[in-house]
Amino acid sequence: MAAEAAALLVEDGMKVGLGTGTTVSYLLPALARRKLSIRCVATSERTAEAAARLGLSVESFSTISELDIAIDGADQVAPDGWLVKGGGGAHTREKIVAAAADRFVVIADSSKPTLVLHPPVPVELLNFGLPATLRTLGGVTVRDCPLSPDGGVIADYMAAFGDPAELAARLAATPGVVGHGLFGPDLVSVILVGRGDEVEQRTLGS
Ligand code: A5P
Repeated sequence: MAAEAAALLVEDGMKVGLGTGTTVSYLLPALARRKLSIRCVATSERTAEAAARLGLSVESFSTISELDIAIDGADQVAPDGWLVKGGGGAHTREKIVAAAADRFVVIADSSKPTLVLHPPVPVELLNFGLPATLRTLGGVTVRDCPLSPDGGVIADYMAAFGDPAELAARLAATPGVVGHGLFGPDLVSVILVGRGDEVEQRTLGS
């Protein structure tokens, strides 16, 4: 329901960022059914293929610099709008797409809201100097999964943390960290949570 509500926010002529994950898999057919003339970029090959199969026009993100809207799922949604993303390992690309969009819309089911964000926080690390980066960060477990499409090592920060802004700043400032799955409220415009047969909407930004 959240995915279908998000699909209704897309208008003809828009450039649209498509996220990754099981929630987004409900968005794609809902968007395709609207038969709009839109240009899409995808945050993963999986999404690109699924979208193209449904007849959505997917372009490379190397020729488009701005998006009107991006829609994506989340693993955790805090009351103040902080998110944890990257359960599927696509968080680095997802953050680039979210940041390029005028509006970033988060879609989630009722299991995703949480009072306090908690580990794991997905990270993507450069393979060069990986042991040194892991030693500096501490508390990080490398995931048993393929490298990201950009050659990054997908891992999870497993230590307890308090303030997500503090952890986000620390991760971003650590050499060897390519990206992390903490998304601040400054990135988020709208959060749509499907609960029962209703969609709760929280508006954060423009
Ligand atoms: C992909 O890397 C993730 O950021 C997903 O957007 C997030 O994990 C939500 O996925 P689901 O919709 O599958 O729960």
